[in-house]
Amino acid sequence: MTRPSTYHVKSFGCQMNVYDGERMAELLAAEGMTPAVGADSADLVVLNTCHIREKAAEKVYSDIGRLRREDGSTPMIAVAGCVAQAEGAEIQRRAKEVDIVVGPQAYHRLPELVAKGRAVDTDMPAASKFDALPARRLSGPTAFLTVQEGCDKFCTYCVVPYTRGAEVSRPWNAVLDEAKALVDAGAQEITLLGQNVNAWEGEDEKGRVQGLDGLIRALDRLPGLARIRYTTSHPNDMRQGLIDAHGEIAKLMPFLHLPVQAGSDRILKAMNRSHSVASYLEVIGRVRAARSDIAISGDYIVGFPGESEADFEATLEIVRATGHAQAFSFKYSPRPGTPAATMEDQVAEAVKDERLQRLQALLGEQQFAFNRATIGRTAEVLIERKGKKPGQTIGKSPWLQSVIVEDGPAIGTLATVEIVAAGPNSLTGLLREIRAAA
Ligand code: SAH
Ligand code: SF4
Ligand code: F3S
Repeated sequence: MTRPSTYHVKSFGCQMNVYDGERMAELLAAEGMTPAVGADSADLVVLNTCHIREKAAEKVYSDIGRLRREDGSTPMIAVAGCVAQAEGAEIQRRAKEVDIVVGPQAYHRLPELVAKGRAVDTDMPAASKFDALPARRLSGPTAFLTVQEGCDKFCTYCVVPYTRGAEVSRPWNAVLDEAKALVDAGAQEITLLGQNVNAWEGEDEKGRVQGLDGLIRALDRLPGLARIRYTTSHPNDMRQGLIDAHGEIAKLMPFLHLPVQAGSDRILKAMNRSHSVASYLEVIGRVRAARSDIAISGDYIVGFPGESEADFEATLEIVRATGHAQAFSFKYSPRPGTPAATMEDQVAEAVKDERLQRLQALLGEQQFAFNRATIGRTAEVLIERKGKKPGQTIGKSPWLQSVIVEDGPAIGTLATVEIVAAGPNSLTGLLREIRAAA
């Protein structure tokens, strides 16, 4: 195969995968390759995959099939991400058209693998891939920055500890340097990422041990950066310093994604979550005491093995007790190699479907109510993209709601907007004022 000159990277799954996809694209660009308009015209297609649920993993194979072109040819195909890590060389056996398989901790070697033409690399090398990646050059108004990777929690349903490896925090200086590069490239909002981002720990330039709140305080001092977010957090790592930061740092947006997964202590124990319903609600209480208008998001799983109707009702109850601005909910999906996959009392698919519907109806009501409560208020919106209708632009409120602004200002503007209408999934606003750069 001739050396590819154009590339297309397609990412699935969590924001950390989106981040990795951006870094792979930057890496290929640094090698002199150029981005193709889409997968159809690219010489090299990277499918950056997710393994979290069965459907996500199966999708990879149908996506590979769809890359075949009318004349029967295929581009060079690289499968990256968590399916690559979990299945390795098996992918090439199942899908002969796959040339390269590269795991989430090895993708800095993508150019070498491309040069080889056919290769599998799912190493988890001790040296960090980040040191081998080119500096950030491209950014829109919002940017992701991975500061922590991996997971040591081993929830019994979850593949992440196996696909991403052990918890590692990137060093203080590496994070701040990357943040500066992103701001220089145009980022006004940075979202710090990690599977357990609030477990981040490191030493600052004076050798003092810092947690995520210390990192956020350092970013708060970075000229040009207007907004800071972080995701995703574990209830047990929600330390008081971070909670206090929500009350003290204006640039830290009032939004917290804090998954609890279920509302029954019995199920939480079987999930190996190591927190209880009461400890979760206690954390939420302290967060709200620090920042009363904070929007709370979360993740829920229905139909975990052994979940009874009463257990499920307890999940509805914790949703009511928490009051979400938004949340994600999933049917439990047995993942090969995880302890829950072989537990007895697997819940029937029809029961999972029915529970998911009831949960999503409740979460939908809460989200709509949260959105409606912002009508009549003014909110600062960072404009991210064009809307469907001429003149419209769309951005995010501090509470992560999408806001459609009629006669909206340009992408990258921080605008003060009066919220005039609310739907289940977005708000509509009128421009009142444009804020000068931070
Ligand atoms: N580290 C994060 C979540 C990572 S995965 C955390 O603990 O909060 C994102 C979400 O996918 C999880 O919060 C969980 O709700 C869901 N999930 C993970 N494994 C799953 C499985 N086997 N079946 C269904 N949902 C799952
Ligand atoms: Fe998965 Fe649990 Fe780790 Fe989150 S904390 S990544 S759900 S094992
Ligand atoms: Fe999926 Fe891997 Fe993220 S399994 S959710 S892409 S860590």
